[in-house]
Amino acid sequence: MTVLEAIQKSADFLGKKNVGSPRLHAELLLAHQLQLPRMKLYLNFDRVLTAVETDGLRALVKRRATREPLQHITGATSFCGHEITVSRHALVPRPETELLAEAGWNFLVTRHASRVTVLDFGTGTGCIAIALAAKCPAAQIIALDVSPDALALAKQNAAQNQVAERIEFLLSDGFAAFQSEGRVPRVPDSNAGTRIGDSWNASLRQWEFDLIISNPPYIASAEIETLEPEVRDFDPRAALDGGVDGLDFYRQLAAEAKPFLKPDGKIMVEFGDGQAGAIRTIFENQKWIVEAVKEDYSQRARILIAAKII
Ligand SMILES: C[S@@+](CC[C@H](N)C(=O)[O-])C[C@H]1O[C@@H](n2cnc3c(N)ncnc32)[C@H](O)[C@@H]1O
Repeated sequence: MTVLEAIQKSADFLGKKNVGSPRLHAELLLAHQLQLPRMKLYLNFDRVLTAVETDGLRALVKRRATREPLQHITGATSFCGHEITVSRHALVPRPETELLAEAGWNFLVTRHASRVTVLDFGTGTGCIAIALAAKCPAAQIIALDVSPDALALAKQNAAQNQVAERIEFLLSDGFAAFQSEGRVPRVPDSNAGTRIGDSWNASLRQWEFDLIISNPPYIASAEIETLEPEVRDFDPRAALDGGVDGLDFYRQLAAEAKPFLKPDGKIMVEFGDGQAGAIRTIFENQKWIVEAVKEDYSQRARILIAAKII
C-alpha cells in the first residue's frame, strides 16, 4: 500500500466512525507512524509502506476510530509553540486557551518588574504556566491543581520545556493549601506537589500575586454526558465538571481570590461559550471591576479580565 492509498483508506474508515476531519486525522496519524512532518507525506505519496508501518498505522487508526483523541494517541500537542505531553490525567490543552495565556503575558510585561508572580489555578498539563514562564523570564509561578496525577504531568512538561525552576507545583483543592495557615498564603510541607526553586519559594509564600489566571472546569454536570466522546470519555471529569450550572469555580474565584492578588493585580479566567453574562455578574457581585471580556477566533466571548477595587 502506498502513502496515498493508506491515507485514503484510513480517512474512509475514520469518516465512517464519525471522526471529524477524517482526512486530516488520517494524515496526522500516518505522519506520526512514519515520524515525519505531515507536509512531507505530500512529497512521498508513491512511497510503499512496509508491513510494520502498515500494521502500526492500522493500530493507530483503530484507536482513533474509538474516538480516542488524536493528542492522546500521538502523546503530545502544541501550546503557544511549546510541546506539551498529554495523557488521561489532564485536559488536552485547547487552542482558545492560548488566548488566555497571551492575555496573561501581555499583562505581565506591562509590570516592568524584575519579578512578577502568577497563580495558575487548575494547571492541568501545566500549559498556561509553562507558556507564561517561557514568555516572561521574570515570572515565578505557582501551578495549582487538585489532581496529583495532573501535577506530575505538569511538572514533567515544565522540565521538558526548561522552565521547571520557576514553577512550583502545589496540590490544593481550591485555595485550601494557602488558607491552611490563615491569611498568609503558605505551601504546606505535606503537599504532594513538588517544591522547586526553594530560593524564591520562601518569599512567594507571603506574596500576593500579580496575576491569577485560570481555565477552570466550566461544564454543567448534566451536560457532560452530551459532549463528544473525545471529551466525555477521555478528559478527566475533574477537568470538566463545573457543578450544577457550570459556574462553581467562578463563584469560588470571585469570592476567594482577592486576598491573593496584589492591589493592582489582575484575575483572568476562561469560560465556556454563552457564560459571559453570568460570569460578569458573579464577579461584579463580588465587587470586582470587570476590565475586559475577550473573544476567541470565532468571535465568542471566552475570557474575562478583572481587577480589585482598591
Ligand atoms: C479545564 S482544566 C484546565 C487545565 C489547563 N489549565 C488548561 O487550560 O488546559 C481544569 C483543571 O482544574 C483542576 N481542578 C478541578 N477542581 C479543582 C479544585 N477544586 N482545585 C484545584 N484545581 C481543580 C482540574 O484537575 C483540571 O486540571
